[in-house]
Amino acid sequence: MKTEFDPTEVQGNILRGYRRSRVRYLMVTIKDAAKTRQWLGRTLDASDSSAPTITSEAPWSSRPDYCFNLGISFQGLRALQLSEASLNSFPDEYRLGMAARATKIGDVGNSAPEHWHEAFRDSEALHLIFNIHADDQAHLDAVQKLVESGTESAFKVLAARDGWNFDGSTVHFGYRDNISQPRFQGIHDPARYPDAQPQSPLGSVLLGYPTAYEGLRWRVPEPTPLGHNGTFNAFRILQQDVEGFEHYLDIAADELQNHPQADRLAPPGIEKRWTEQQHAYKSSAENHWFERYLDTGFSYRDVLRELVAAALCGRWRNGVPMALSPDTPFPDTPVSLTDFDYPQGSGCPFGSHTRRCNPRGGHIVQRVANNTRRLVRRGMPYGPVYDPAHPDQQERGLLGNFLSGNLGAQFEAVMCDWLNLGLQDPRVTGSNDPLLGVNDEKLSWFDLPVPDSTPIRLRGLPRFVDTRGGEYLFIPGLPAIRHIASL
Ligand code: HEM
Repeated sequence: MKTEFDPTEVQGNILRGYRRSRVRYLMVTIKDAAKTRQWLGRTLDASDSSAPTITSEAPWSSRPDYCFNLGISFQGLRALQLSEASLNSFPDEYRLGMAARATKIGDVGNSAPEHWHEAFRDSEALHLIFNIHADDQAHLDAVQKLVESGTESAFKVLAARDGWNFDGSTVHFGYRDNISQPRFQGIHDPARYPDAQPQSPLGSVLLGYPTAYEGLRWRVPEPTPLGHNGTFNAFRILQQDVEGFEHYLDIAADELQNHPQADRLAPPGIEKRWTEQQHAYKSSAENHWFERYLDTGFSYRDVLRELVAAALCGRWRNGVPMALSPDTPFPDTPVSLTDFDYPQGSGCPFGSHTRRCNPRGGHIVQRVANNTRRLVRRGMPYGPVYDPAHPDQQERGLLGNFLSGNLGAQFEAVMCDWLNLGLQDPRVTGSNDPLLGVNDEKLSWFDLPVPDSTPIRLRGLPRFVDTRGGEYLFIPGLPAIRHIASL
């Protein structure tokens, strides 16, 4: 078999994002192994109209109406009747499944698996997750219908969940997302994706290639045609408490207004400067969050709210990195959104979400870990947009896919060491990621940097993001699906 990279053998949406406006996930349980294997084989045959065709990484000559892809849980591989030798060659975290790793990745309290949506509560029964990407609901419906037609005796769709891009790449909480992604050696043109970080080797995400660790490749599950070109996905349904988040920004802004260091954090008159800068700023259309200030201008309290929101994330809500523009979301000279590193930009708080998730070239305690835990992120919001004028209790959040060649060394290490223990830097040890860490209001803190002074310590952050479901999935290459179909 071929071992050099061939895009037609890799499922799509791994190395390059689809950038479609809608997604539907179908959670599936297998009823008959042989019939399901046979059906999976049909997803490789573009001339077979009885099943949707798997979309590969191969470049498109024209934009397809929909993209169809799948991931398999460990229980799914078992249900498909892979040999014990093959099952045993998969890594432990994947074999155990996401629910069994709950404590390690912060799925405790209200996020614990017993509070997850029904389809995720019985991990023995969740075997496959299909995803359909398209630009309208009609295509999602049509592909789901095709998946379900004539397959009643093979498998059953347990649940469906839709996501949508309601404002380009904006996520609930108002931030622009999907900016920083690993770019891969030999795949992405560095001139097109300027980035101060090194490009990632293919093995950071695909099995069978060199990784960011010198001389190391992640073990390829056996037999090779099954494991090669596969990747692991932490699929997560993450509920966001938007009302709680905005309320916390109010509390923090009120507290900061009376803080003795407020003048250093936000010098008097800053609100006027921002208002002028916003009108002159060329790229303000990149996300609509700040449009609400176009008519009214900013008040001093608005500035403090936005300063806190930016510090918690590491980027202003329009995506501008704090590392390059620490005091305004509207820098006079527009800055790159991707081409930066932390040694050059001390304006980004050590504890911010983006800096914790990816310390880039910054000095960290686990120095060997710089650049080795990169994650490909493919996510879309779900649920209605939150309207502060009409608060509601509807569920909304992010349907997140966190892809890596090794769940333990990449996804879990980030979730545990960096987001929740803060082991990467003594200045954040003992605190959690402010956006999605396991925060307890009584204990939580976050240090807000103040120019030329000691940081201001914010306290009382609640948990803003709760897990509502998820599973570890293996995303097989196309030859692997052929292999499974042929068993
Ligand atoms: C609802 C939950 C989450 C929200 C609202 C959220 C939001 C964001 C935002 C706004 C950014 C900045 C945009 C960008 O750099 O592309 C970002 C970056 C990032 N997030 Fe999250 N995120 C969430 C969950 C997670 C989880 C579970 C992880 C996994 C460990 C994660 C890992 C990352 C990484 C690696 C980056 C890029 C950092 C960089 O390279 O500079 N996020 N996130």
